Amino acid sequence: MASQVAQERVFNFSAGPAVLPVPVLERIRDEMLCLPGAGASVMEISHRSKPFIAVQEQAKARLMRLLGVGDDHDVLFIQGGSRLQFSMIPMNLLRGQPGPAQYVLTGTWGASALEEAVKEGPTEVIYDAKDTNYDRLPKVSELKINPQAAYVHVTSNETIQGVQFPADLNIGNVPLVCDSSSDFMYRPYDISRYGLMYACAQKNAGPAGVTVVVIKKELLERSQANLPGYLNYQLHSKADSMWNTPPTFAVYVLGLVAEWLEETIGGLDKMYAINQSKAAVLYEVLDQYPQFYLGHARREDRSLMNVTFRFGKAELEKAFLKQATEQGMDGLAGHRSVGGIRASIYNAMPMEGVRALADFMTDFAQRNA
Ligand SMILES: Cc1ncc(COP(=O)(O)O)c(C=O)c1O
Repeated sequence: MASQVAQERVFNFSAGPAVLPVPVLERIRDEMLCLPGAGASVMEISHRSKPFIAVQEQAKARLMRLLGVGDDHDVLFIQGGSRLQFSMIPMNLLRGQPGPAQYVLTGTWGASALEEAVKEGPTEVIYDAKDTNYDRLPKVSELKINPQAAYVHVTSNETIQGVQFPADLNIGNVPLVCDSSSDFMYRPYDISRYGLMYACAQKNAGPAGVTVVVIKKELLERSQANLPGYLNYQLHSKADSMWNTPPTFAVYVLGLVAEWLEETIGGLDKMYAINQSKAAVLYEVLDQYPQFYLGHARREDRSLMNVTFRFGKAELEKAFLKQATEQGMDGLAGHRSVGGIRASIYNAMPMEGVRALADFMTDFAQRNA
């Protein structure tokens, strides 16, 4: 039975929820009936029990080590996905502030974040790549940052278009707020550059249900007491992310993924090197057949996480997807809003899967050019 299930596992290029490391899935399987020391599964015990508190504390400690979080920041576990953060961020960080929130729009998700912020208070768009179909990123020097701004919001990796900032931005003293949902922990960070970094877990860090918010402690002072309780960062921080029942299973898996990153991969430096090699394999094929595969992102702005392209002959898309599925590669259809192909190669996608896709792409191009 187990081996049959294993044989059915495909190379899963889904953009999210997405591939998880096999050793993490095996560990979940092994601990499904009984979390060591708990006498029951992690889903069946109180969030106030010692075993669960240990699970959550360890997950947080591992994330802090991986991200290089020190005393200036706190790490929160919140539900509601990244979309709830689109609202919570302006509610907590813009309300009552003298300056506007500034938004850098490099793709669909940044634009969606802005849609929520405008409901809360004054906003300014300081970069918008919509005219070129979000195929590029700005340099910091191109951004007119208002020194009075409540914060500047960026999306480190635009999951749909496949453009990614390659490094931590240095925007000076204005708090940098970064949606890292689709590239969370793909490389090491200088976390001191961030006022707030957030990421739903279901792409690069675990299952759906938990969103990680790394927030500079001084920003917690901005949360106003009349906010609905759940939407108040300060309450979550004071209660150690136990203000209400946390998503216990999701936090547990997030902790296991962090353990895998630390102990099996060997940290975010190593993960970054692997991610660079994996992405290079796919982009090499795009560059080898530039008339056949039309990459979406400008070369210098390419994402290491979501490789997006179309076909010179658009009619080949269906055949590509069908044949890829037949060869055990799934989840490759581009987002419904843009079409084309999107290969999501998050941390847990093995090089073997990337090579299988690159070989298939080469063969497909040769057969159909
Ligand atoms: C960059 C980015 N931001 C936000 C979201 C929305 O996340 P959620 O569905 O958890 O609200 C997604 C993914 O779907 C995303 O890729």
